[in-house]
Amino acid sequence: MSSFATAGEVAEAARAALPPEVWDYVSGGGGTEVTLRRNRAALDALLFRPRVLRDVSARRTDTTFLGLPIALPVLLAPIGTIGLFDAGGAATCARAAARAGTGAFVGILSVPSLEEVAAAAPDAPLIFQHYVRGDREWTLELFKRAEAAGYRALCITVDSAVDGIRERDLRNRFDRSKAQDRPNLGTAYARRELQATLTWSEIAWLAEQTELPLMIKGVTHPDDAKLAIESGAAAVVVSNHGGRQLDPQPGALEVLPDVVAAAGGRLEVAVDGGFERGGDVVKALALGARAVLIGKAMCFSLAAGGEAALVETLTRLRTEVERTFALLGVTAPDDVRPEHVRPAPWPTPPHAG
Ligand SMILES: Cc1cc2nc3c(=O)[nH]c(=O)nc-3n(C[C@H](O)[C@H](O)[C@H](O)COP(=O)(O)O)c2cc1C
Repeated sequence: MSSFATAGEVAEAARAALPPEVWDYVSGGGGTEVTLRRNRAALDALLFRPRVLRDVSARRTDTTFLGLPIALPVLLAPIGTIGLFDAGGAATCARAAARAGTGAFVGILSVPSLEEVAAAAPDAPLIFQHYVRGDREWTLELFKRAEAAGYRALCITVDSAVDGIRERDLRNRFDRSKAQDRPNLGTAYARRELQATLTWSEIAWLAEQTELPLMIKGVTHPDDAKLAIESGAAAVVVSNHGGRQLDPQPGALEVLPDVVAAAGGRLEVAVDGGFERGGDVVKALALGARAVLIGKAMCFSLAAGGEAALVETLTRLRTEVERTFALLGVTAPDDVRPEHVRPAPWPTPPHAG
């Protein structure tokens, strides 16, 4: 039974467990990694404004995302190469999500097949994350498979028209496309170049083809949030892909308020990029996100201690969210408001542990 007390301990154990080139791959970013660092820096640059002497003895962290009840406002992000961190891949993530009472995205590039993931965790709300690497017929076939397997929503990631320029991987000669099988993709249609052809009109067409809510992952511009609404999307994930694609960009938290304003309550908004601790999650709630996705924190947990460590991470995040609520003077996710945070007047030096 693993036991890690802090996010820092989990990351250290993951680094020790992974081959150096895989550690570089998972922890690194695009370009000169400005976006990667700004994801974290933007979280550190937002400070809490607590209120005191409120009765905070009864606290709850449960909420809903797209109508799905979740025990804490944290979802597991889609990770195409999840098999590098745990042999069970996305099935392990889905089981951990079910045990912690939350939902998981299942990436099209991940292992095992989307049906096997669903069978491994029938109780977990699962969201199928799609990349358009085939024609319409191929995409609709995958959507139907996800619907038949009981997935609760579909997600299209749109920040990856082409691959990001990852200098650590180039230096290590690390080719992630060969890192693991891709059972959902099918060899006949492994057409990466089609991802660059996707436009909003195709999103609108795809949204009409399914009864499931459609999410768009990788929106950072408020005008794109408006186009997502016009295209029939139900939710967006404000994301720069964990700093792994276009670089440099602002941190995800820096662009969140404008996207929330543009969404105007007509889209649910989630966010990811740099989230490690419960306090980080509460900051996203304060700026109007309904939930946060964790990517690297999930990979590190799996590498450090498999399913048990991932359940532990989700449990720790839930406890930290709850304790942050109490210290902030609130008792539930919907109580957290923009007035509970303020920008830091001067930069905070980096955290050592
Ligand atoms: C190793 C790795 C693989 C990823 N693969 C995918 C993927 O296949 N599809 C996708 O939409 N996002 C993918 N992402 C991005 C994550 O879903 C998520 O947006 C990002 O990791 C969030 O930032 P964080 O890692 O700082 O939590 C990947 C991220 C990592 C670290």
